[in-house]
Amino acid sequence: MVKASNVKTIEWADGKVRLIDQTLLPAELKVLECTDYREIAEAIKVLRVRGAPAIGAAAGFGLALCAVHSRAETPTALLAELEQARAVLAATRPTAVNLFWALDRLMACARQHGEDSVEELKEALVAEAQAIAAADVAANRRMGQYGAALIPDGARILTHCNAGALATAGYGTALGVIRAAVEAGKRVHVYADETRPLLQGARLTAWELQQEHIPVTVITDNMAAHLMQQGRVDVVIVGADRIAANGDVANKIGTYGLAVLAHHHGLPFYVAAPVSTLDLSRACGEEIPIEERSPEEVVCFRGLRTAPEGVEVYNPAFDVTPHELVTAIITERGVVRPPYVEGLRAIVRGKEDKTG
Ligand code: MRU
Repeated sequence: MVKASNVKTIEWADGKVRLIDQTLLPAELKVLECTDYREIAEAIKVLRVRGAPAIGAAAGFGLALCAVHSRAETPTALLAELEQARAVLAATRPTAVNLFWALDRLMACARQHGEDSVEELKEALVAEAQAIAAADVAANRRMGQYGAALIPDGARILTHCNAGALATAGYGTALGVIRAAVEAGKRVHVYADETRPLLQGARLTAWELQQEHIPVTVITDNMAAHLMQQGRVDVVIVGADRIAANGDVANKIGTYGLAVLAHHHGLPFYVAAPVSTLDLSRACGEEIPIEERSPEEVVCFRGLRTAPEGVEVYNPAFDVTPHELVTAIITERGVVRPPYVEGLRAIVRGKEDKTG
């Protein structure tokens, strides 16, 4: 059986980008081939590729596609095309900072090679985009090692949305920690929140874990409190789309509610995220832009209306969990505990913090 952690969420293949169309899972495992950065932008917008680190990798590959298929004859002309492509890719989704981080990295690389030949510039950009994807997988594996130490043998773990191999270039953040715990011989049982409105938990997390025979039970989002009250959850672990300097965490809508519940029930609430998800330019969560998506996502499911025509809908895709509710942030450079301002600053500076 194919292991989901070995499935290539997104990859560069000879001038093309191959990515799994996540809107079709779990019914169909279909790989799309993109040759134009606009296809990548569309894929990000409609969530064919989603999850903060995977969005970052996709954006990097998008700029690489723009370069490789450009007919520009001078580096200056190519840079102008890249700027245009950057604007299109940057306008797709506002919350995951990995998108902007990857675009900035590619543009910095382009400027650095601005005096080289057009061919050299193209090669440098493809190499940079590939490096971002490869580094993400390596970061997730290291994060997994740090995080696994926090998971007790026999833990019943609640997770939200999908922070797995599908949400990254491979292995996953929150699910990476769970995978690493299993690889270390620990027994776990995962409760996957369904994650309304787009069901990333039911469709994607359950699919990934099932592929690897990691025990998983799907629950609807409104069942988490009941489960905790019954003493059936030991740990909550989620991913992140952007983490502010004070440790406030933007993640899939519903995460904040879980953090409040975990606090009430005295359960640890962990966030697993790579350093590329930290945005120390935002002092706190209030400064993080929260994406609002189409009302259709809430009142229609696969073409079927679930609420009356014309009803008012509010559909924020993310919420912010205040840092006071976060037990620890697991990164590839170590586990950060409160106070987060100092801890996160040290992590970004590159200092390892293995205090666990
Ligand atoms: O709207 P999505 O599916 O892109 O939201 C994804 C999440 O909220 C994930 O938890 C987050 O990006 C972390 S993925 C490692």
